[in-house]
Parts: sequence; C-alpha cells; structure tokens
Amino acid sequence: MRRPRRLRATPVLRRMTAETSLEPRHLILPMFVADGIDEPRPISSLPGVVQHTMDSLVAAVAEAVEAGVPCVDLFGVPRPGDKDAEGSASWDPEGVLNRALARLRREFGDAVVLMADTCLDEFTDHGHCGVLRDSRGGTVVDNDATLVNYRRMALAQAEAGAHVVSPSGMMDGQVEAIRDALDAGGHTDTAIMAYSAKFASAFYGPFREAVGSSLRGDRRTYQQDPANRREALLEAELDVAEGADFVMVKPAMAYLDVLREVADASPVPVAAYQVSGEYAMICAAGERGWIDRDAALAESVLAIRRAGADQVLTYAAVELARRLRGDR
Ligand code: PBG
Repeated sequence: MRRPRRLRATPVLRRMTAETSLEPRHLILPMFVADGIDEPRPISSLPGVVQHTMDSLVAAVAEAVEAGVPCVDLFGVPRPGDKDAEGSASWDPEGVLNRALARLRREFGDAVVLMADTCLDEFTDHGHCGVLRDSRGGTVVDNDATLVNYRRMALAQAEAGAHVVSPSGMMDGQVEAIRDALDAGGHTDTAIMAYSAKFASAFYGPFREAVGSSLRGDRRTYQQDPANRREALLEAELDVAEGADFVMVKPAMAYLDVLREVADASPVPVAAYQVSGEYAMICAAGERGWIDRDAALAESVLAIRRAGADQVLTYAAVELARRLRGDR
C-alpha cells in the first residue's frame, strides 16, 4: 500500500521532505516613522508595532538586521499640519520619510535593503493615494496628475538613499512613470517593487490607524475589486512590461489563489504582503487564547510562501526570523 505517512514519521524526515521553506531572507519588515513625537507610539490595533522616532527606528532596524531580515519597508507619518492636497511632504527632502531614509542609509549603508513606500495617502489631507480633481459635481482621483507627484516622490526617495521604491497607489502607468523619473535623475540602479495586484480590502483597517489616515470613503476606483482574478494577471503583466523589478500581491491570505497564478506567470520575483488586518486577527485570537498566536503566524507565512511568494512582507518578520534562527 502507498503510505504517505511514512515520510511524516520523524521530525528529521519531515524537514528533509518539506517542499517549501521559510528563511529569514524571505522576510521584509514594514515599519512606521512619525514626525513630531519624542517616544515610540504604540499602535493599539497592531500589537507589538509602533510608530518610531528617528532614534528608535535606527535601533529597530539594527535588531532586524541582527535577526537576518534583509529588507525593511518604510512608511512615513507626517505631522497632521504637514499634510496638503498634493501630498508635498512626500517629496520634500526634509519630510519625515526622506529624512528617515537618509539617516538609515548613513547608518547601515548596504547592510540592509531600504525600501520606501511610494504613495501619497500618508501625506494628503484627504487621505487618497492620488490628487483629486472636480468632476461633474464630485471629485475623482486624477490618474495622470498623480503620476507627476509619484515621479517627484520616487526621485526624492532614491536621492535620500532608498535601494527600492514601492509604488502602492494602483495608478495606471505608475511603474513606467517612476522608472522614467529615476533613470532621468541618474538612479538607474534603484529598483521598483510594484504593488501590482492590490485589492480594495477590509483587511487594511489597522494600517489606517498606524499612519493616522485622513481617508473618508474608500479606494474602489483605483484598488482592485476582490472579485477579480484575471485582472490581477493583467496588472502584473503591465507592471513587468513597464519595468517592475518585483511584483506584489496584497493582501496575502485571502488572495492565495491570485498569488499562485501571478507566481506561475511572473518572470520577476513575486512578493506578498501579509497586511495589518491579517496580523491583527491572529494576534487578537491569540490574546483570547482561541488560537496559538506564534504557531498561526508561522503557518500563515509558510502558506504564503507555498502559494508562490518569494518575499513576504509581515509585521512579524523579526520574531519569525529569530525563531527560525533558533530552530537551526
Ligand atoms: C497605501 C497602503 C496601504 C497599505 C500599504 N500601503 C493602505 C491602503 O491601501 O489603504 C496597507 C498595509 C497594511 O494594511 O498592512 N499606501
């Protein structure tokens, strides 16, 4: 009789025959840095995650490097008074995100891959990922006017020291526009991780607290409809054609089918983002004693790898990396 259980009999046999691995090098840590705070500020809906000061950010990146995490993804939280309709603090070299990138690059050089979130929503007073235009008595997010600002923002991030910029606003043509701006500015070696298939998801809830989002309404005119699979393949294909060095699927766990298909088709590395709501749900159920938090986090990230992710963005990156190292 064919007995699959044979290969499950001992821990070493299981390790030997595992089809998928999770290693620290697969992990990317998203981080928040806020302007105008003196102490790191906890984010109540994301246990263990904080808005950093410049100094606490440097210390936390050092811990990530120490744990073997190769990449951090930085989000800036400006003072509320620094937000405007255009999101101009995002390309100001003195804006919080660009100052943090410059500081980290000075401190760490090439010892960690510095990635920057290239999107306006943290910096606009209306909270949208692009600039608004009046249309028939309402407002719409103006795609091509937004690209002008993305170009400025990506250039400022590269100049500040980002190794990778990551457009997450889901504007059409954003990768091509940013590639062109980077090349024209002499930053031909700065890579682009494109949020290619980013869905209009309810799982971003805690993130909105994390960045002090001003958004009212939703992002359904630019982020993808959760109903659509084929459209995600089109988005990824367009981004690769426009010059993306990585593509991304986001959220992860509710979109593992999309991730698998993008991974099968992609000629470039594929990342997946275990978003704030995914992490928060696991922590919350863990706090109640309903599930084993640590085991559930490890299992969920392994499942994201199994579905085809080369890199996984997760708020648990450092603790997972530490545990993986301890396992060896
Ligand atoms: C937008 C952005 C969002 C996230 C990353 N970039 C929020 C949104 O689209 O509303 C969410 C990340 C998370 O939930 O962890 N720039």
